[in-house]
Amino acid sequence: MQYSKRKLVPPNGVMMCPYSKTEDGFELQMGTNHLGHFLLTNLLLPLLTHSEEARVITLSSLAHSYGIIPFDDMTYEKGFDRNQSYANSKVANILFTRHLAKKVKGTKIKVFSLHPGVVQSNLWRHVAGTFASSWYAALISKSSVEGAQTTLHCALEAEQDDYSYYFSDCAAGIASAIARNDKIAERLWQVSEKMVKLK
Ligand SMILES: NC(=O)c1ccc[n+]([C@@H]2O[C@H](COP(=O)([O-])OP(=O)(O)OC[C@H]3O[C@@H](n4cnc5c(N)ncnc54)[C@H](OP(=O)(O)O)[C@@H]3O)[C@@H](O)[C@H]2O)c1
Repeated sequence: MQYSKRKLVPPNGVMMCPYSKTEDGFELQMGTNHLGHFLLTNLLLPLLTHSEEARVITLSSLAHSYGIIPFDDMTYEKGFDRNQSYANSKVANILFTRHLAKKVKGTKIKVFSLHPGVVQSNLWRHVAGTFASSWYAALISKSSVEGAQTTLHCALEAEQDDYSYYFSDCAAGIASAIARNDKIAERLWQVSEKMVKLK
């Protein structure tokens, strides 16, 4: 395998930011963390399908474990909690990966979602007292190099089976019950298609 020929699209994300909207009118966390990746992946799918080998890796979080999909209020007009909204966007990452796996079955595309660990990065900028500057951060968190390892494992080594859509610490992990629900995954896919006007 010639890794040097691989093109990498870096992950982006925001966490626990105050309520605001993207230019397209989506709540910032759902828009950036889920819908942005959803749209980009869909637009790239024709290209990926014809690639020698492609991998779609979506950075979720352990925070997905308390996430839900607010189908009745995807833009949080009725109420907003920045912590819950982040968790929701992170469970959306895994559900997206789960349904994408069905869509690309039979192609050479492999799909993964993962929790990178608690990593020292700018993601914490909206958290009070900025975690990254606290004295205990170094004790309980990963450096950016350590935090990249599960992503690299999924990009270079991990093998796909019907269950391993979610990785943590460079190994297949167990996602929450909601994250493993195929009906919710399909419904989220359909709702997302409408939101980003793919359909
Ligand atoms: N760090 C952790 O402890 C941790 C834990 C679990 C999961 N994760 C996940 O890992 C992923 C990457 O996080 P990270 O730690 O690498 O964070 P990071 O260092 O803050 O990097 C996030 C990147 O996303 C970009 N970005 C933010 N909003 C954007 C938008 N609307 N459009 C385009 N780009 C945007 C940022 O650009 P600017 O800097 O220019 O704003 C930045 O380059 C996220 O999905 C996060 O949920 C991280």
